[in-house]
Amino acid sequence: MAGRIPQSFIDDLIARADIVEVINARVPLKKKGREYTACCPFHNEKTPSFTVSEAKQFYHCFGCGAHGTAIGFLMEYEHLDFVDAIETLAAEYHLEVPREDAGDQSRRGPDQKQAMYDILERVSQLYQQQLRQSSKAIDYLKQRGLSGEIAKRYQLGYAPDGWHFLLENIDDKALNINKLKSSGLIIEKSPGKRYDRFRDRIMFPILDRRGRTIAFGGRVIDQGEPKYLNSPDTPVFHKGYELYGFYEARQAVRNLQRIVVVEGYMDVVALAQNGIEYAVATLGTATTSDQIQKLFRSVHEVIFCYDGDRAGQKAAWRALENTLPVLRDGLEARFLFLPEGEDPDSLVRAEGRDAFESRLNHAVPLSEFLFSHLLEDVDAGSMDGKARLANEAKPLLARIPESVFRDLMYQRLSELVGISQEKLQATRTAAETKAIHQPADLPAPTGKDVKQNATRDAIALMLQHPELATETDIPDAFATATIQGFPLLHELYRTIRENPAITSSALLERWRDKKEFAILQKLMQRNVFGTEEKADQVAVFGDAIQRLVMKYKDERFEILESRLKQGGLNETELEEYKSLLAR
Ligand code: CTP
Ligand code: MN
Repeated sequence: MAGRIPQSFIDDLIARADIVEVINARVPLKKKGREYTACCPFHNEKTPSFTVSEAKQFYHCFGCGAHGTAIGFLMEYEHLDFVDAIETLAAEYHLEVPREDAGDQSRRGPDQKQAMYDILERVSQLYQQQLRQSSKAIDYLKQRGLSGEIAKRYQLGYAPDGWHFLLENIDDKALNINKLKSSGLIIEKSPGKRYDRFRDRIMFPILDRRGRTIAFGGRVIDQGEPKYLNSPDTPVFHKGYELYGFYEARQAVRNLQRIVVVEGYMDVVALAQNGIEYAVATLGTATTSDQIQKLFRSVHEVIFCYDGDRAGQKAAWRALENTLPVLRDGLEARFLFLPEGEDPDSLVRAEGRDAFESRLNHAVPLSEFLFSHLLEDVDAGSMDGKARLANEAKPLLARIPESVFRDLMYQRLSELVGISQEKLQATRTAAETKAIHQPADLPAPTGKDVKQNATRDAIALMLQHPELATETDIPDAFATATIQGFPLLHELYRTIRENPAITSSALLERWRDKKEFAILQKLMQRNVFGTEEKADQVAVFGDAIQRLVMKYKDERFEILESRLKQGGLNETELEEYKSLLAR
């Protein structure tokens, strides 16, 4: 079982990684003076206010306040947890992530996840092997037009009939039962009464962005209820976040330009079989904003493809609503409605790749779908109709981030209802205000909200230049001082003394899970020195510490004095008091 990642490896990895390289690979940066800039990937903007400092190994956006280290960037940008971000970064530098021996209980999180990935992979292999041996399953897939090659690419499998296939075929049973249960592969109705979730089904493994199997969808062969059965949500699988076929699409298409979102697993696989290798499916649920955002991080064009019936229209409208908040300029969302009774699978098989792609090329732009849908139930010729149209459209348009696109949408609405754009945007209902897209916990702007004081200055200096702490002593008494910030200052100091080679961002990352992380991130962004000279910097830091020592002494003196008045001091305290009196 995988254990904890050694702290020294994390420190070294962060020291070796270059934030400019890491970000530039995802958001192309332009050099501007000593820093690098780009349009911020975390909010919508037309002029770049996102800056990356090579010297500080830190990024900061002056527009939305987003900031952090290379690890922080990966976590934000790719929605990773800390361990995944470390693994992603390590992979980019071709480093194997070492693991300590299995840790104690409190460190179980990542281990448990790894164990689930392992078991899911083993089960997927077993199902694939079963498919190769089942003529019934092979015939079914053949009859649906799928080749062995496509089945292999999508790692399709077969869960054989019977209640205990997994229990009988996974070795180290005692060790693995809990993993099978927590991965949703076996169900335990009452203690000891266990059975396989998937029986006599074609298995579609669901892969995460790194190609790891995280869940399954299973289809009955021919008739039966329910037609599809999915893994439940687990620590490694969240339905509303993952997309079926996304990993395979990125593997198959070199320079992925667009993605088609369809409703079914079979649709994805059938499209690939017919040469359209860029389809993904949601997992039996409505398309969420998270999923759409994830897609738009990889491509600029997303086409939602639905049945032409009422259910399809409804699903498309849900997708439209969830797309609005993530639409930035340069992104395109379109909608394709299929003829009644057809789905992408049946259609592409009937008419082939070119005809299907031609439909995709003629898909309706989001703007058109939005207005035509609203216009369906109003009479835009009447005054009442216009008022209703305006009332229904306004909260939708308000969800679009500020952009040329949003302006154009208001312009169109203005033309339709005959009210000026300014008026439409000036009167905002409560619903609109609420609808306006606001990044959840927008960090406050830098600098100003962090009060300038000597303690913070010293912390900022040491955080940005850890080597300073190797040359200046800080009294141990600071560790338990009651003055705000002193214990933190000392803890940073102690960490650097114990790891003299630690880099600034590695130091910062050690505080990720602690309450002081936010304040440290802000202090990381301060401009702390007016000088490049090492000797000057050491002097400035020495002075800062001296001031704090004085502050500490003042505080101590006051404490001892009041205690003296109240009842007395012991021998050593009296000595201390006397020496402070003489200061
Ligand atoms: N789905 C589900 N549970 C069901 C039915 C459907 O989770 N009981 C999800 C599956 O992800 C499925 C998608 O909804 O792929 C679309 O369902 P449907 O249109 O019924 O199936 P198809 O994809 O067309 O599958 P097939 O062609 O094999 O009938
Ligand atoms: Mn179908």
